[in-house]
Amino acid sequence: MSNMFEAKVLTVHHWTDRLFSFTTTRDTSFRYQSGQFAMIGLQVDGKPLMRAYSMVSPHYEENLEFLSIKVQDGPLTSRLQNIQPGDTILVGRKASGTLLTQNLLPAKRLYLLGTGTGLAPFMSIIQDPDVYEKFEKVVLVHGCRQIHELAYQERITDLPNNEFFGEMVSDKLAYFPTVTREPFKNQGRIPTLIESRKLFEELGLPEPDLENDRFMLCGSPAMLKDTVAVLESFGFKEGNMSHPGHYVIERAFVEK
Ligand code: A2P
Repeated sequence: MSNMFEAKVLTVHHWTDRLFSFTTTRDTSFRYQSGQFAMIGLQVDGKPLMRAYSMVSPHYEENLEFLSIKVQDGPLTSRLQNIQPGDTILVGRKASGTLLTQNLLPAKRLYLLGTGTGLAPFMSIIQDPDVYEKFEKVVLVHGCRQIHELAYQERITDLPNNEFFGEMVSDKLAYFPTVTREPFKNQGRIPTLIESRKLFEELGLPEPDLENDRFMLCGSPAMLKDTVAVLESFGFKEGNMSHPGHYVIERAFVEK
């Protein structure tokens, strides 16, 4: 069996001139955990051109969904942004990634901190009932430059109406979108909002402590560096497959 399969594009949605998402068919043998990523791409000049993309779709979903930036001279996204329903993309069969609840020590609250397309793995996680079994509170923080880049707002705010796990979501999920380059109800970069405690004040939640709070981070290298520095200043330690910890990180691949 090849290490890739061909997936048929079903729908494409352009959020902005820099951001789009699309759904594809899923090979029944392709398994992943919510929060993981896979290599996806296109055949270019007879060769597969592949990049890492987190699945937006939760692990149980029949189809796959991905969120992507558009880079005009990006080797992959300059082409990928033109896909249409009916086209074919390639998906690597091996899913991986560190944004898994098993890499975190048990606690009360889970903060999912993403900027830009760093939202993608968290869309998968917040649609997975498993996370609500493990945490009393799940807080999704999404940081963008502008309001119109806050993808999936409606889907997120609609989750409490989900017929299977809506009730758990309405008790447990909090959504905190924040914007940095225009006026909005919440403003500022994620590390600043944590350091100033503003995030917790606005949400009516206690200041984070080692016993009760866990974090998953997905964003640019600079966002990860600055957010980790703030978390470490609180005493939080990174977790991984062999040693669960207080936080885990994944890079949202930016130059595609
Ligand atoms: P800012 O507008 O202040 O640069 P991008 O679209 O460039 O990936 O940015 C997505 C969001 O991440 C923006 O709100 C941006 O804020 C923010 N951001 C950029 N650099 C950092 C950083 N070092 N730490 C936290 N957030 C950042």
